[in-house]
Amino acid sequence: MKSINVAVVGYGVVGNGVARILIEKKELLSKKSQIEINLKKVYTRNWNKQFEYPLPDSLKAYSLEEVLDDNSIDIIVELTGGIDFPLQLMKKAIEKNKHIVTANKALLAEKGKEIFTEAEKKGIRIGFEAAVAGGIPIIRALREGLVANQITKVYGILNGTTNYILTKMLKEKRDFNSILREAQELGYAEADPTLDINGTDAAHKIAILASLSYGGFIDFSGVYVEGIQDISPIDVELGRELGYTLKLLAIAKSHNGEIEVRVHPTFLPEEHPLAKVDGVYNAVMVEGDAVGETMFYGKGAGSLPTASAVVSDIVDIAKSIALGVGREIEITSMNWEHKDLVLTKLSDFNTRYYIRFTVPDITGILAKVSAVFAKYSISIAAVIQKEKVVSLFEKRKEKVVPLVILTHTASEKNVQQAIKEIEEQKITVEKTKVIRVEDEEE
Ligand code: HSE
Repeated sequence: MKSINVAVVGYGVVGNGVARILIEKKELLSKKSQIEINLKKVYTRNWNKQFEYPLPDSLKAYSLEEVLDDNSIDIIVELTGGIDFPLQLMKKAIEKNKHIVTANKALLAEKGKEIFTEAEKKGIRIGFEAAVAGGIPIIRALREGLVANQITKVYGILNGTTNYILTKMLKEKRDFNSILREAQELGYAEADPTLDINGTDAAHKIAILASLSYGGFIDFSGVYVEGIQDISPIDVELGRELGYTLKLLAIAKSHNGEIEVRVHPTFLPEEHPLAKVDGVYNAVMVEGDAVGETMFYGKGAGSLPTASAVVSDIVDIAKSIALGVGREIEITSMNWEHKDLVLTKLSDFNTRYYIRFTVPDITGILAKVSAVFAKYSISIAAVIQKEKVVSLFEKRKEKVVPLVILTHTASEKNVQQAIKEIEEQKITVEKTKVIRVEDEEE
């Protein structure tokens, strides 16, 4: 039986899971793959701490050179996090002709072009199943299972922390900050959850899925990203009254030769399958021209779910090393057309909108708002005005109420201009809240 040697660099939550699977499931893996996969070395900066899965001294490496200079190591598993250090590590691994497996979505989304181009020159494979949606095998599904399809849309819930917060806001009617604190105490949210909350983590993941789906590199700075930090319980509740559930949705879709890639809080019809994905779970929907709609659901984070994806890449690369084939096909898989994708600008998006104005409860307000909407060709689908007072005008002591308008499909440019004009006319007394709605019209 052919034997392949693996080294892991970075021994955190996922690294511990990878070592556990490679050691405890070695026999199962060799039965399934007909290859012996050996964990040869693990490198971490500091071995003097408690690990969830302690390793024997024989597996511990005390310098990166011990791993990089070992010619018997075929695959390096990069699990260090950040961008600069893993980028340098990967470049060195490529120089040394070692294949790479990584869970690092930030690196691939922001430096993918650089690293894949280097890898391709040397015929090195980079496995990144664990970079998107943890244990869900969405990369392999897009690359292999759905290869017969032109992908028309790929979208989903790609961040567990924000999905946990939004689920609790809906079900327990609590505010954002108290739920975030609870998520941190329970270990669901990182000590610094900034990249989760502001949408960047989901944006990294959808950029990778868009690259794979549409066969080109994405300029990450062109991805529209909006997080959940400004979501108030009032919008979750008013959306629910209209039949919608709020999710942080990551969306990539193609039209007219361009790709629209965006992450933002999104209202979904409550009967939509993604609206039912609760807590820390992830789910991805893929629409293909042959297969129609498909859905993938599972754990998007955690030691063993993510390690399950890492090990799938190790086995996949081990198989192609053993067979001596496959590199040429695999290495181009992020960018099968060798091109940069053209991204649609925010102002050119077309979607439905939930718009909450905060207005005085006086005669003629609704008429003024709807006149501006008509001017910008924005068609109104539903209106809610609450009698419940949210505040009072300081000086005039008038009642101030939320006025919610749900639109039919409209252009982002027109919606933003209409809101600007309404705010300039001083019809509103607070900043207007806009939440995009993903709901196909009949
Ligand atoms: N922090 C991510 C999440 C998991 O909350 O889903 C790692 O990508």
